[in-house]
Amino acid sequence: SERTLVLVKPDGVERGLVGEVIARIERKGLKLAALELRTADRATAEQHYAEHDGKPFYNDLVDFITGGPLVALVVEGVRAIPAFRQLAGGTDPVEKATPGTIRGDFGLEVQYNLVHGSDSAESAEREIKIWFPNL
Ligand code: GTP
Ligand code: MG
Repeated sequence: SERTLVLVKPDGVERGLVGEVIARIERKGLKLAALELRTADRATAEQHYAEHDGKPFYNDLVDFITGGPLVALVVEGVRAIPAFRQLAGGTDPVEKATPGTIRGDFGLEVQYNLVHGSDSAESAEREIKIWFPNL
């Protein structure tokens, strides 16, 4: 069993898709280990997306992710990291995510792609420390 860090990004919260995302996580057989609604400050967002520092979309991404409340979750289960990436679908909701995935079913734009999921065991460990330091 492993843990992954999931975010329902501010666009997903604004659109009322928190329940939809959690329902898909639960139906997949994954468990919720932590859950919090909060508005991320700039330092947290910059830490979270440090790998993208310097990219052309970085500032817009940090503005977006700090622009309203999001839901942060720790999700646990067998192969939880790739399992949630499968539920999310590819980064671009139209070109990469397929129907049946969260992004494929509900997204249109790359930046507004509704959810985040850790992409490796190392990322998951790093990101869980950022969002849930007491876990
Ligand atoms: P995350 O789970 O959020 O990390 O998405 P990802 O792993 O599928 O994609 P990646 O880590 O490469 O990019 C992080 C986030 O930056 C994406 O989810 C998008 O919200 C945003 N992003 C990535 N590429 C672009 C881009 O070319 N343009 C814009 N505007 N945003 C992008
Ligand atoms: Mg990523």
